[in-house]
Amino acid sequence: MSASSDSQRMEKIVSLCKRRGFIFQSSEIYGGLNGCWDYGPLGVELKRNLKNYWWRVTVHERDDVVGMDGAILMNRAVWKASGHEDTFSDPMVDCRSCKARLRADQLIEKKGAKQCPNCGGKDLTEPRAFNLMFKTYVGATEDESSITYLRPETAQAIFVQFKNVLEVSRKKLPFGIAQIGKAFRNEINPRNFTFRSREFEQMELEYFCRAEEGMQLLEYWKEERLKFYENIGIPRDKLHVKTVSDEERAFYSKGTYDIEYDFPFGRQELEGVAYRTDYDLSQHQKASGKSLEYFDEETKQKFIPHVVEPSAGVDRTLLALICEAYAEDQAPDEKGKMETRTVLRFHPRMAPIKCAVFPLLKNKEQLVAKAKEIVDLLRLHMSVFYDESGAIGRRYRRQDEIGTPFGVTVDFETLGEKGRQLQDTVTLRDRDSMKQERVAIKDLPSILTARIS
Ligand code: GAP
Repeated sequence: MSASSDSQRMEKIVSLCKRRGFIFQSSEIYGGLNGCWDYGPLGVELKRNLKNYWWRVTVHERDDVVGMDGAILMNRAVWKASGHEDTFSDPMVDCRSCKARLRADQLIEKKGAKQCPNCGGKDLTEPRAFNLMFKTYVGATEDESSITYLRPETAQAIFVQFKNVLEVSRKKLPFGIAQIGKAFRNEINPRNFTFRSREFEQMELEYFCRAEEGMQLLEYWKEERLKFYENIGIPRDKLHVKTVSDEERAFYSKGTYDIEYDFPFGRQELEGVAYRTDYDLSQHQKASGKSLEYFDEETKQKFIPHVVEPSAGVDRTLLALICEAYAEDQAPDEKGKMETRTVLRFHPRMAPIKCAVFPLLKNKEQLVAKAKEIVDLLRLHMSVFYDESGAIGRRYRRQDEIGTPFGVTVDFETLGEKGRQLQDTVTLRDRDSMKQERVAIKDLPSILTARIS
């Protein structure tokens, strides 16, 4: 695809997200706040489906992982010990011509000279470190003693609670602690819609192990995470594993992979899988003076565990799901004439609404009553949407555009008007093939739950 068709595709996706209530600009009526986004009625459902599935496969379906939910505000000492206060920064450059503040790695280079990507100016300041953490004050006084930060990653809460969780869960190595939550970074240049935001969510697993297991577990978790993306509808050929080089890797990491996805705006990171050695726990043990060691009952040895960390972004994955699902194809209109159809081909497991229910006509009381009965039957198992307005073809299109995988239509056959055989059956339409099958109402919950789980 060409760069211009990719950027047109991205524009259409952003517009659909707003028009249909997936994603809005934060504080929009006041002109917005750069790098912050709100999820609307459909966006929040999609996000929940993503987070719930991650939690299911990472925590519920495993014996070796437990969850936790840490506070966003933590003692400043955490950020000193972790190294964030001193080193969590991007090198930044100011353009003296247009006054833009830019990340040093985003400058363009022409004929060996660095230039501002906004105005082409070459009058640039030397790079300076810009800490990405949002500073805040806890309590009534705003002085040095009350400073802390909004957490820039969820991981540190896991490290500092390692001992408590180990004691209450009574897990043996290797085992993991998982967490989903908000993180904040004062990104110099938020961009590409929600891709680089200032407020975002992470799904992080810290998988603790013995030193000798680290490299092997790094490979294991990379593969598990690739499977995860495939299971939510991102094909393997759009995923890429980048081995982070020695120069780019954090000094304490013995190996890091970035899992990348081909977004319309280029190949970009979805997740990092890093073998962080015993760096984090060692730092916190040293700084707090509290033991974060593990006692191995078999060998009677005490040691600080190592950790492998798959760290995924909720918002980035959600954006990848939407980009991957977005399609335009041809479908017949009411009169059989082919027209362009916009469709989000979400994996049914991720789709915000699983099934829409339509009475063929809204002014036929029995059709409406039967359709509402079906809504009540299905909503015990999944998110459903009832729609009676407009021609049936238009109702299908509205659901296609938001990615609803199944549509149930109640017609005169359902009411038994075309013979007893078809009474209490409905048409079940598949979003992607647009094919319809006739199924008994009583079988709908089991047919649909099997297809969406
Ligand atoms: N605990 C390790 C850690 O935070 P990271 O690579 O800085 O590692 C992990 O972040 C993931 O969090 C990224 O792969 C990305 O999916 C997400 N993420 C990081 N910064 C982000 C931002 N500004 N906007 C949206 N997602 C972000």
